[in-house]
Amino acid sequence: MDEWRNRIFCEDALDGLARIPAASVDLIIADPPYGLGKDYGNDSDKLAADAYLQWMEQWIDLALPTLKPSGSLYIFLTWRYSPEIFVMLKKRMTMINEIVWDRRVPSMGGSVRRFSSVHDTIGLFVKARDYYFDLDAVRVPYDAETKKARSRSIFVGAKWLEMGYNPKDVWSVSRLHREHRERADHPTQKPLEIVERMIKASCPPGGVVLDPFMGSGTTAVAAVRCGRQYTGFELNPDYCALIASRLQALQSAAGEAVLQDG
Ligand SMILES: C[S@@+](CC[C@H](N)C(=O)[O-])C[C@H]1O[C@@H](n2cnc3c(N)ncnc32)[C@H](O)[C@@H]1O
Repeated sequence: MDEWRNRIFCEDALDGLARIPAASVDLIIADPPYGLGKDYGNDSDKLAADAYLQWMEQWIDLALPTLKPSGSLYIFLTWRYSPEIFVMLKKRMTMINEIVWDRRVPSMGGSVRRFSSVHDTIGLFVKARDYYFDLDAVRVPYDAETKKARSRSIFVGAKWLEMGYNPKDVWSVSRLHREHRERADHPTQKPLEIVERMIKASCPPGGVVLDPFMGSGTTAVAAVRCGRQYTGFELNPDYCALIASRLQALQSAAGEAVLQDG
């Protein structure tokens, strides 16, 4: 295969994954169809439950060998299938976290026979005990008020107060509603804030992030913004064009910044 880094292949991940060299990737960020019948311009999200779970197992078994021994996997899911998929992954990897993405959905109407679901479930899995994880890169700064409140002598000079706190496992980040400035033409585009946190924490600078289901290309854009490399797949040619234009816009913005500096 030609050079596979910093390229996105407009093809089925089941065909492409087998060509990524073994133990070559630092991080996998996977945001597969959730099995809820979304329209991605193909039938990828229209499988019945059993077939869906079989398909998940199939691509997972092709993707995991590409990870380095220090590598990690983040997988976006919902409560509907996360129990089955977490059990399946726990047979292959070590589970580190279940992260709840609170999509900050406004309160209005909604379900009357159940509680409205307003979160996605993200699993963080690793291959080995000495997995790469840089907490300092993703600490959340304390606000001025908290810092002031902790100004008593026992806190003065406390390293953690300066460095910020662990982001914890509930991430409250607004979904990309129609008017959101980041929003591209993809129904389930993920916020850069979330994907960049995953990359900074779990992929060393210059390392490679693999996303088998690129969608609008959020992982590739986030990787470039964070100084990492990317590779991945996307079935829908319209989304492949969208990814190319998002990456192009990023390059043009970087070019303009260089011009302004020079
Ligand atoms: C949940 S979306 C990913 C969204 C992405 N994380 C983003 O931020 O834009 C899943 C994507 O996987 C693509 N897809 C589904 N089955 C695929 C397959 N077998 N190979 C490659 N891409 C696939 C769909 O077309 C869809 O764009």
